Amino acid sequence: MHKSATTLLASSNIPSKNEVYLFVSKITSKSSRNNLIKILQAVQNRYGYLPEAGLKAISQFMNIPLSRVYGVATFYHQFKLEPPGRYVILVCMGTACHAKGNMNNYEFLRLLLGLDSNKHTTEDGMFSLESARCFGCCSLAPVIMIMSSDGSYKRLYGHVTPMLLKKIINEYRVKVLKEVTIHVGHTKRNFVR
Ligand code: FES
Repeated sequence: MHKSATTLLASSNIPSKNEVYLFVSKITSKSSRNNLIKILQAVQNRYGYLPEAGLKAISQFMNIPLSRVYGVATFYHQFKLEPPGRYVILVCMGTACHAKGNMNNYEFLRLLLGLDSNKHTTEDGMFSLESARCFGCCSLAPVIMIMSSDGSYKRLYGHVTPMLLKKIINEYRVKVLKEVTIHVGHTKRNFVR
């Protein structure tokens, strides 16, 4: 991918510090100041992860040490500290999908996307990889779902194999490249006006 498009894609997943502070100031003034987990959940629901600025803002507005905020955010599995990729790949680990080889598919995707065991999002911000529970369509096992990070786009793929996954990932790479190129074009046109 062209460097400017890659940079744009990676940075577009990160909200501005001011926006995060404004959001946290609103939710901490409305809700119980003792409920740290609820506040963390609200921030994660808004941004898809817990931005560093969000943790600092929570510490400031709730008047609790930043180390405690980090401690809670890292203790619970539900919280993510890195921004999601433009597309999130959910690999079903329900019983039927597990029995039909989705663990192998997950490992294949991890290698294909160049992710180590601690990292869930690709360097270019294009994809995140996560395991998920049953999607309720077990007859199609093994199943994956690909969704946009804002949840506005979702698509299920059934009977997936490593070969099919490779094809799907290539299609999404082309799709993202087109989306980002269109976005860069719009930005340039708006700038010229
Ligand atoms: S176990 Fe995967 S869809 Fe049900």
